[in-house]
Amino acid sequence: MFLWVHYVDMVIALLAVPIAVAAGWVVMRLPASTGSGPSRLRRLLFGLLLAGAALRVVAALLLLRNGWDFAGPRLVFVAPALVLVATVHRVWVRPMLRSPGGESRIAAWPGAYWAATAAVGVVLVASAAQLAGMRAAAMTGAVVVGAAAMGSVWRRTGRSRGSAGRWWRTAAKGALGVAVAAAVLVGWSTASQLPARSSMIGGPVDTGGGGMTDHSRHGGVSVTTLTGTDTGGAPVRRFTLTAEPAAVELDSGQQVQAWTFNGVTPGPELRVRQGDLVEVTLVNRLPGVGVTLHWHGVDVPNAMDGVAGVTQDAVAPGGRFVYRFRATQVGTYWYHSHEMSSIQVRRGLFGAFVVLPAEAPEQGAAVDETVLRHTWVDEDGVATLGVTTGVQRRQVPAGRPVRLRLVNTDGNPATFTVTGVPVRVVAIDGTGVHEPNILNGVRILVGGGARYDLAFTMPDQPVVLHADGPTIVYSPDGNAGPGGEGPAPALLNPARYGTPATTPFGTASHVDRRFTLRVDERLGFYDGRPAVLYTLNNRSFPDVPMLMVSPGDLVEVTYVNRSGQHHPMHLHGHHMLVLNRNGRATTGSPWWVDTLDVGPGETYRVAFRADNPGIWMDHCHNLEHAANGMILHLGYAGVTSPFHTGAGTANHPE
Ligand code: C2O
Ligand code: CU
Repeated sequence: MFLWVHYVDMVIALLAVPIAVAAGWVVMRLPASTGSGPSRLRRLLFGLLLAGAALRVVAALLLLRNGWDFAGPRLVFVAPALVLVATVHRVWVRPMLRSPGGESRIAAWPGAYWAATAAVGVVLVASAAQLAGMRAAAMTGAVVVGAAAMGSVWRRTGRSRGSAGRWWRTAAKGALGVAVAAAVLVGWSTASQLPARSSMIGGPVDTGGGGMTDHSRHGGVSVTTLTGTDTGGAPVRRFTLTAEPAAVELDSGQQVQAWTFNGVTPGPELRVRQGDLVEVTLVNRLPGVGVTLHWHGVDVPNAMDGVAGVTQDAVAPGGRFVYRFRATQVGTYWYHSHEMSSIQVRRGLFGAFVVLPAEAPEQGAAVDETVLRHTWVDEDGVATLGVTTGVQRRQVPAGRPVRLRLVNTDGNPATFTVTGVPVRVVAIDGTGVHEPNILNGVRILVGGGARYDLAFTMPDQPVVLHADGPTIVYSPDGNAGPGGEGPAPALLNPARYGTPATTPFGTASHVDRRFTLRVDERLGFYDGRPAVLYTLNNRSFPDVPMLMVSPGDLVEVTYVNRSGQHHPMHLHGHHMLVLNRNGRATTGSPWWVDTLDVGPGETYRVAFRADNPGIWMDHCHNLEHAANGMILHLGYAGVTSPFHTGAGTANHPE
């Protein structure tokens, strides 16, 4: 429903521009023509504009179901515009048209007509967010004045009796129009250019309605000193990950020129135990590009977070960097490069990171498998589990406990389905689900960057895991194929799954800071290139204010997705408790996330404790969206960073 209304509304808005221009044009030509032709056309065009505005009001009313954030801005701006235009037409234009010689009197005001149509066009086209605040007045005013001026100039040139012929005049006017349009586009593109060198420090901030005792973000604590207090003693688990290019062959026979860790993709799975001190040496053997390691979902000390230009410099070719942290959280995580991540993750620089409970027995006969789904975007978008695009067969004796750790390494959500066995969803984003009930098969929309762990006991018959394309079939003899499964199981709703348990805070807790992040979708320019922008409160990185907190704060964030795309919002360094989904409190197990897929039209309220000082990215894990500016940061008062990002530096975290 939301998507329908959203896109119909968008199409109306886009059509309004050519219609408004055509209407102005027709009015301008009125006196030159005779008969009822232009008059009828004029009526038709203005009728369409009014109908469009009326439909947008209807759309706004339909969106009231999604909340005021969706309907309000449309109602506030489109409805008055509609009323205004209709009134002007009724009290001024119509009587004049009906009076003798009315058409030519109207035609004597082409500037006004152009301006009026342009104003309606702007109101119709602009997204709710663009219309917020003073920008609306400024933008509408500029367009109205510009249109009025152009209308009169146009009119004058039309009347002048130069020696040039009619066609020359038309061509000159056309050229003028094109030149103006080009100037606007170039100006817009240039204005979007990012600084060659920018720091996370000193930009706009938002304190979320809480006081800030320490306003100085200069001369405070550097992120480089935030290495954690619990890293003493001999490293227990040591790994080396070497970033290097490698040709990888998929089971389809397709060759992928991948960027890998240690020559394989996914990179080696790092398995440790809770309490282990983990030491990973990153070595860069990629030609000409930097690399880092980010521990996605692991709340490491800030200096170990691996974000180029924020917590470290990208590791240059030939260089190395040592990451060291205590593995305190049990669960399924993953690691990936956070330098040019939209390109590097896509090309293969990722792997699984699994933390087992300290006291868990050796794996023994149990099956514990990490299933990373990855789409090779540059290879015709082929989806894989490991290097398999098709069907994998596994032999598992009946009665064996099986745990599957599903990881979606893409930006778009992927549907994972398990059929043929009663199954429990035992963990989400690493955190255990409280009293997970048994489901008769399960279908899960796994958002970008998210993880879901499933557990079942191997039955006598085959169990099929579909991962939106690639498939794994588990059977006692290892020969079974997919197919023949019954109807698709119901979609998991994590907001209602499992049973409640006590949490360190909840809906009734005192909140220190509140933030709302509204996501909108529009065409524009980012860093000089044309792009589809997914804005946060109508801004793109680096203009999105940093969310400022103090240690110990309870922070509430509301994500409102007014766009037509999924946005997996990923906060580094913290786990967020989902309190509310689309206006309804969660009723199942406490639902902790580090990457929350916010679907089109959805609103989520989450809370987290600010207990990990640093400067942390909070961004969309659709990394293409992030590369187009869908990034902001969470900052702790008094924490600074000596690093810089931008074209003039070696750091491009997005
Ligand atoms: Cu998975 Cu900011 O990253
Ligand atoms: Cu996004």
